[in-house]
Amino acid sequence: MLRIAVARQAIKSLNHTTARPASLFTRSSSVKILRQEEEDQASKDPLLTATDRARQGTLGDKEGRNARVDESLQIEYPPDEDMPRSPVVQGRGGMHFKRTLAAFSLENKVSVVTGGARGLGLVMAQALVASGSHLAIVDLNKTEAEEQAEKLVEQFRKENPGVQDAEMPRVTAHYSDVADPDSVNTVLAEIFEKHGRIDKLVTSAGFTENFDAISYPYDRIQKLWGVNVDGTYLFATGVARHLMERKVSGSIVMIGSMSGAVVNVPQPQAPYNAAKAAVRHLAASLAVEWAGHGIRVNCISPGYMLTALTRKILDENPELRDKWISLIPTGKMGTPEDLMGAVTFLLSDASRYVTGADLRVDGGYTLT
Ligand SMILES: NC(=O)c1ccc[n+]([C@@H]2O[C@H](COP(=O)([O-])OP(=O)(O)OC[C@H]3O[C@@H](n4cnc5c(N)ncnc54)[C@H](O)[C@@H]3O)[C@@H](O)[C@H]2O)c1
Repeated sequence: MLRIAVARQAIKSLNHTTARPASLFTRSSSVKILRQEEEDQASKDPLLTATDRARQGTLGDKEGRNARVDESLQIEYPPDEDMPRSPVVQGRGGMHFKRTLAAFSLENKVSVVTGGARGLGLVMAQALVASGSHLAIVDLNKTEAEEQAEKLVEQFRKENPGVQDAEMPRVTAHYSDVADPDSVNTVLAEIFEKHGRIDKLVTSAGFTENFDAISYPYDRIQKLWGVNVDGTYLFATGVARHLMERKVSGSIVMIGSMSGAVVNVPQPQAPYNAAKAAVRHLAASLAVEWAGHGIRVNCISPGYMLTALTRKILDENPELRDKWISLIPTGKMGTPEDLMGAVTFLLSDASRYVTGADLRVDGGYTLT
């Protein structure tokens, strides 16, 4: 059929060519005239003239300006002493305040959250404790992790008056640089010693920085990939190895980002975007590799979330705030609390047939 159609087409075009007065145009002058006609037509079309039209092959000042990165924007991840503290969340936990499915419970499980001293990791850690889990917070900043571990227990007691000591969650704090394999092995051994086992893992240690790709210092790129990608890989494999040895099922949630699926503007961040795309696909790949062992691996991709750190960045770069919000369909940034349900769902039996998924919690950012 295809051959016949092609033959017909060839005959048609042959007839067409021979019917035309052959000498009227040379090939190049006919192309020029057609292009002129196209341009004349374009100048009459309001949709085509709506932008400042640039010469072909160049970028105009205004065309596409809302979808470009601004190379002059540079944001470095601040040194630890300048990092703002994150408050623990009040009034979101509590037992038996409202009925819910038992499958969402993490009662008596042992969960590990990397990067749990601050920001999203801290609040997700709190969600796991509120759902009945014991918890090991792993962070580069041990002092802050210890302080937050105490606050989480205190908050749990407030929200669950009358709870017996034996029913209290065990919350521990541990130092580790997730990008360093020895440090990861050491901390995993420490957690096993304190808790006896690990059932659930959330990898939230990660960070972003903004430099244009050409001037991005290479050592900073390596550090960024080391924490976001290697750190996720090392922790996931360390915990999966342990689950396989115990021959038990488990669940892992990797914190990616919407930046793993779209290119954010206007801040330039190519290495971060690539790192988060790697995290998302790592989750999918390990989900397949470990499905036979009963280990589920999923990814949560948050959008712009208001943490102590993003608040600081927006305070220092107020022009970013309006730009970011204008691109979010729900018209506002997310809060760390918006991840509490998502992480509990993915770690618990409520999602027992979900693996390799990427759950976007981004107010619809990636839909448009
Ligand atoms: N905040 C957002 O808007 C947003 C959006 C999408 C994705 N994310 C991702 O969520 C995760 C958490 O981000 P956040 O906003 O809570 O950041 P944050 O800076 O508030 O917290 C990150 C935590 O990770 C720890 N950490 C950093 N490097 C580490 C290392 N090498 N080893 C161990 N711990 C380390 C830090 O000490 C800190 O406590 C990151 O992976 C980030 O990329 C954040």
